[in-house]
Amino acid sequence: MGTQTARRIRILALESSCDETAASVVENGRVILSHVVASQAALHSQYGGVFPEMAARQHLRTFYPVVEQALKEAHVGWKDIDALAVTRGPGLPGSLVVGVNFAKGLALATGLPLLGIHHLEAHIYATWLHFEGARPPKVPGFPLVILIVSGGHTELIWMKDHFQYRRLGGTRDDAAGEAFDKVARLLGLGYPGGPEIERAAKDGNPRAFDFPRARLPGTWDFSFSGLKTAVLRTVQTWQKTRRDPLPVADLAASFQEAVVDVLVEKTVAAALEYGAQGIVLVGGVAANQRLRTRLKEAATVPVYVPPRPLCTDNASMVAAAAYYRFVAGQRDDLAFDVLPTWPPPELEPPPHPEALAAENGADR
Ligand code: KG4
Ligand code: ZN
Repeated sequence: MGTQTARRIRILALESSCDETAASVVENGRVILSHVVASQAALHSQYGGVFPEMAARQHLRTFYPVVEQALKEAHVGWKDIDALAVTRGPGLPGSLVVGVNFAKGLALATGLPLLGIHHLEAHIYATWLHFEGARPPKVPGFPLVILIVSGGHTELIWMKDHFQYRRLGGTRDDAAGEAFDKVARLLGLGYPGGPEIERAAKDGNPRAFDFPRARLPGTWDFSFSGLKTAVLRTVQTWQKTRRDPLPVADLAASFQEAVVDVLVEKTVAAALEYGAQGIVLVGGVAANQRLRTRLKEAATVPVYVPPRPLCTDNASMVAAAAYYRFVAGQRDDLAFDVLPTWPPPELEPPPHPEALAAENGADR
């Protein structure tokens, strides 16, 4: 037994939930053989946000060459692929339909099994990935507290084991990334707003403006709409009462600090309260260096953050999640449909901290 080498399982995955058309080939859920992402950001930037019909049409044009490139870069042919995976939801309906139908077409043509994957679960599984030739990251030990921060979601999740999640809380209004995008627009910066704010904030003073932090005590929820309104009011007042130009760098830095403060505080507190062995930070906003640094400084347990290209939407993370489901036996019937508002996977009521401590047993 001991001398046998484990079989390699290669999954080709597609992602098109928003404005990235992506395809990847990943081996055993961890090693990225190819990672192709065609971003539509330039196309949508003139509208200051994603234009859904245009996104769907662009996915349709882009998928074929993107998949071909993913196979080519991985140096594999169809015979080397064991399964296909695709983002089934949540996301923009038209964009999801293009990806799912393309994946079904590939499954029919190749006879390969197909798995429909939850976009947020995919973001989580980015933590297990590394590029071929790069040093594999440390495998996080369970239980984990996961902070997912993207353009569409802000979720705090307790993860007991693979596929075993409980939602602790989430945003009550805007997602963290959405707040970055909206405030960037207010400040006259480009789309997507996150990287633009981060760039502008580098030259700014995070204490220049005292923006509100919604703490929502007694819950693990977040709220960013009050903060966004506060920035809007500050900008309007400045423009009415001052002649000097808007202090964009200070505004960006102060806004970013307010978002980072609440995200870090709540995540670290949840990890402590629930006895997590580690914290996982994922989603597009996890690309933010200030958030990464502050979370690592504040946490008392290891913090796992995927490298930047694996934080924003990509197909490698879809393949990673699909691998663990594939080896667990999941195969989806080709009749499955997209789920644009799919709730986070396998949600149970939030655990009571004492019950959890008992469940986690003697190892603490
Ligand atoms: O996960 P993602 O690529 O797409 C969704 O599933 O939403 O996340 C995109 C979001 C956008 O709102 C973008 O502004 C934000 O992630 N983002 C950032 C940074 N890079 C991307 N936010 C803050 N700082 C960044 N460096
Ligand atoms: Zn995403």
